[in-house]
Amino acid sequence: MMRQAIEIEFRSSRAGGFLFVLATITLAITTGSCAGPQPLRVAINSQHESAYLSFVNEANLDGRAAFAEWMAQERGVSTEEVLRLDKQISSTRNPFDAYKDSRVVSRGAVIYTVHCLGCHGADARGRGPATLDGYPANDFKTFGSRFAATLHRGAPRKWFRVIRDGAGDTVEYPNATTSAMPPFSGKLANEQIWQVITYLQTLDIHPLTQMTERG
Ligand code: HEC
Repeated sequence: MMRQAIEIEFRSSRAGGFLFVLATITLAITTGSCAGPQPLRVAINSQHESAYLSFVNEANLDGRAAFAEWMAQERGVSTEEVLRLDKQISSTRNPFDAYKDSRVVSRGAVIYTVHCLGCHGADARGRGPATLDGYPANDFKTFGSRFAATLHRGAPRKWFRVIRDGAGDTVEYPNATTSAMPPFSGKLANEQIWQVITYLQTLDIHPLTQMTERG
């Protein structure tokens, strides 16, 4: 309603057109409507969740081994073959599309739930229960994060590097002394890193255009 009113008012002139765009952006930022958040429950296909959980080892959360076993079964090849092919995946270009690959988004959301939610939070705002005082995790819903994801569309390659290698000061978590953002190399396959990034990119997709397909 409000946007329509603004639109009609300024449509008549060129300057008005510019102001309209500005007003829409301002409105979108203040109301948060430029990007419908993608709740985990919407993104996740429960079959993917139960499949992954049946392979993941709760004790050490070895996502890479779980991935290898799951994909070996699904693809009918050995776990060694799954991991051999995984090594060939690019670390600079996301092979998936957050706008189209709902299956990957679902699997990425499952990975997020198991490996990232403790710090980044169910709402992706970076205040999960496992964070330390003074070391909040990244807030993926800031305008900057969302804009970066959309702008690159294919992939924020920096995210791949951070997830693989870790980032931030060295801190003491209850179970380990590590960088504030712990490295996931060895804990997640390359394909899984891109899957979780693909999920994070959907935080910038309007709810109406998302998740039309399941599988
Ligand atoms: C133990 C807590 C913890 C866990 C678990 C964790 N993170 Fe983080 N993450 C952080 C912290 C803290 C930062 C900010 C680091 C800094 O100071 O630069 C961060 C930063 C990031 C960033 C950098 C964002 C940017 O734009 O700079 C990405 C991407 C990220 N995390 C993704 C993930 C993903 C994906 C997972 C799960 C696979 C994950 N994190 C798990 C704590 C965590």
